[in-house]
Amino acid sequence: MSERQKSKNHWQAVALSADIRGKPKRILFDGAPLVLFRSAQGIAALFDRCPHRLVELSTGKVVGGEIECPYHGWRYNGEGRCTAIPGHVGEMPHYRVRSFGAIERDGVVFVSSGAPESEPYLHCMQGKDIVVRRVRSSTQSKVIDAAENILDATHTHFTHKGLLRGLSSKRHLVRVEVTGGEGWVEACYTGEERQQGLISRLLEGERTKTIGRFRHPGIAELEYWGKGGLALATTFHLRQADERTVEGVGWLIGPRQGWLGEIKALAFKPLFNIALEQDRRVLKSASDNARFETPARPAIGPLDFLRRDIAAIMDGEMPASAAGPRVHQIEL
Ligand code: FES
Ligand SMILES: [Fe+2]
Repeated sequence: MSERQKSKNHWQAVALSADIRGKPKRILFDGAPLVLFRSAQGIAALFDRCPHRLVELSTGKVVGGEIECPYHGWRYNGEGRCTAIPGHVGEMPHYRVRSFGAIERDGVVFVSSGAPESEPYLHCMQGKDIVVRRVRSSTQSKVIDAAENILDATHTHFTHKGLLRGLSSKRHLVRVEVTGGEGWVEACYTGEERQQGLISRLLEGERTKTIGRFRHPGIAELEYWGKGGLALATTFHLRQADERTVEGVGWLIGPRQGWLGEIKALAFKPLFNIALEQDRRVLKSASDNARFETPARPAIGPLDFLRRDIAAIMDGEMPASAAGPRVHQIEL
């Protein structure tokens, strides 16, 4: 098996279960159109093209757990086998649509072009007593830029002023420890003052540490820890849907605290969506601007601790941080 094939042999989060009910849904998966629908055997993912006259199956409908093409009504089951050609009398000829592995876990649909034996990774608080909200996003960008954006603490003063940071420009000396290993890298921030942004004031107490982590193949996680334990966390699964679109599916996570936890979780989602929109704007601006000649390569500044390691992990290489922790001091 080649490196590339091996790297494809994993699950990718592609949609929220709640978005696939009665109607089929088209997604782009590594640049290829797929249709997701609920078959008799559960969630199914097929190449979204009828072999007959190449119409998008996702514009058809689901009938009895099979997908019906809107043009001549050919039907396909969850494995992609053609089961009906309306009007045809006699033995069924064999036609197939390519099928992909598809499973659902914790309200999220995962697809693979291989046949992974392992379960998909869900989020950083798996198995803990938590409340979650699930979110989805679409951004004009590249996975590396979108992942770095989620983990980058130094843009929050500008892009999210007032929301994640206070309105004053006062900064505090913070210690950052970067550690890593095969398929992951993380930055742990300690010594931060209580944050003055709206989200922190509403949802957090005093913060003791912040962790930003990247995991293979495109997972970005943030954990905010307080004196009493975890205050907030997010895990975002990012993937390159096509050349210029990053699709994200994620969990917003808080500790279970009875009704308080539920209220916080309720408030977190709309606030988080505002932050997401602010990020979408800068990422789109960068993506539009990258097409001009010289220089299209971003400069890796002294505070961009994770960029090179994220790139290495995405290429299937060992990140430099695996050789030992790196410690930085910055003003945040
Ligand atoms: S194009 Fe799909 S049935 Fe003819
Ligand atoms: Fe951001």
